[in-house]
Amino acid sequence: MKKVWPFFAAAIGALLSWAALNASGDANIRSMFFCSGPAPSIRALEDGLAMTPPMGWYPWNIFGEEPQNEKLIKEIVDALVSSGLKEAGYSYVGPDEGICFTRGADGRLTTNLERYPSGLRGLGDYIHKKGLKYALYTDAGTHTCSKAMPGTKDHESEDMRQFAEWRADYIKIDWCNTEGQDIVKTYTTLHDAQSAAGRPVVHSLCSWGEGYPWRWAAEVGHLWRTTSDICAPGQADWERAMRMAFANEKLAAFAGPGHWNDPDMMIAGMPGVSDTQNRSFFSLWCLMAAPLIAGNDLRSMSKAAVETLANLEAIGVNQDPLGIQGKIVWTDGIISLWAGKPLFDGSQAVLVYNQGRHPAQWRFAWPEIGIDAAAACYVRNLWAHETTGPLTGGMTVRVEPDEAAMLRVSTKNDFPIPPIMVADSYLLSLRSTGSAPLKLAGAITIANKGSAELPLWRIGEGLPPWLSVTVTKNGKIQTFTNTVSTAGLKKGRYHAIVRADNTEPVSGRPMSALYYDVELEVTQNVGGQPA
Ligand code: GLA
Repeated sequence: MKKVWPFFAAAIGALLSWAALNASGDANIRSMFFCSGPAPSIRALEDGLAMTPPMGWYPWNIFGEEPQNEKLIKEIVDALVSSGLKEAGYSYVGPDEGICFTRGADGRLTTNLERYPSGLRGLGDYIHKKGLKYALYTDAGTHTCSKAMPGTKDHESEDMRQFAEWRADYIKIDWCNTEGQDIVKTYTTLHDAQSAAGRPVVHSLCSWGEGYPWRWAAEVGHLWRTTSDICAPGQADWERAMRMAFANEKLAAFAGPGHWNDPDMMIAGMPGVSDTQNRSFFSLWCLMAAPLIAGNDLRSMSKAAVETLANLEAIGVNQDPLGIQGKIVWTDGIISLWAGKPLFDGSQAVLVYNQGRHPAQWRFAWPEIGIDAAAACYVRNLWAHETTGPLTGGMTVRVEPDEAAMLRVSTKNDFPIPPIMVADSYLLSLRSTGSAPLKLAGAITIANKGSAELPLWRIGEGLPPWLSVTVTKNGKIQTFTNTVSTAGLKKGRYHAIVRADNTEPVSGRPMSALYYDVELEVTQNVGGQPA
């Protein structure tokens, strides 16, 4: 296909996507098309969480509510580890609507022990011990969407304290049954309540674009849904998913480290989505710096689906420390060229996506993707895992129907992967018996699956006097040695959160804070002077 009359074609493309949005019948998407406006200067939270888009798994897309229980979530957790997705950076996992807690007479949330026999804290411990992070769900209104569970309205502080006691690391907060509530005030109250509860938690706002969260939510949360649900449970819908992608694309200016546009959980790997579509979907989510929350049944994935979801070269684009959301730089309504995503090493991420019914040959020039016309460039195909070049001026790509070619273009023949952190555990449990003072030690190991050796993680302040932590490294693996001194401690249970910070060495950008729990049980009073 030859590129002719780019201005005319772009105008037709814009008209077509406008028509598609109208045809979608999705009020949020439609109003968003008109109401996004210019990006205001965004003041994001400074808590160092979610500095790259969160990665994990949530049950809703494939399961809906009914089958969610402890057994299912644990099986998914095990599959997340055994499939290799954990090693590719996926970490947040837990129940969505399907937690099924109730509110007791004392106002506190109560676990449904029939569904979750180990309790919601027990489930969290299981997840943390696997080196994963615990994701939970609630609603900002009187009830959750199915009305099966209480929402947080008028119980914001006690619920956020309860989530902290369950040791949640990520809370998705829905916006059902919120009649008469002010959206900004409500999510601000929840954010303040969560901060007061004292646990670092990623807040995922879920108002499906209602209230235009991209305009204000960066101050009170880390990601916000921009679109309505990507599918009904169990029913992946390709056309609908693509409408979500193209709507979310328009909000590129609002995303950045610590604050992300969320076009919903992924349908990649779900029944009804072809291997080509899986790769295209994943390419789009990676280029848009969208949260990579898998929504398929991880226990029964095809080899191709695993290879797609665990493609570290594509994930590296998503997890780039600059955190820029890529966007469409040219389209004729059939072929779209996505770029505008410079990466930490100076390279550019590029997609050529074919929504037509026929294979297409597409040529783009370097300046269209932000590269000097005279530059000699190497091109890495992130699905074929092959490098070509050096090429000058531009390049031609062949794309099949539904296919997105995902490329990285660089003046260097080197395509480093940014940091992707994988922990052996996020929970250390120690126990002291006897009355003689002891020194107990336990290690937490954090590996970087990216290309570079990282500087040593810096331990934050505020550790309790009974705990000290040192960090050592062996190449890309760092070990956090935790030493507990029991001298002078009274019988009881002790808990600390160890937080560490780091800087990505190539870009100098702060990395997402890393944290884990240390718990200590002291079975009898211990003699000696406290440390
Ligand atoms: C909303 C959300 C979904 C899911 C359901 C649960 O529709 O957008 O992702 O959490 O609620 O009822």
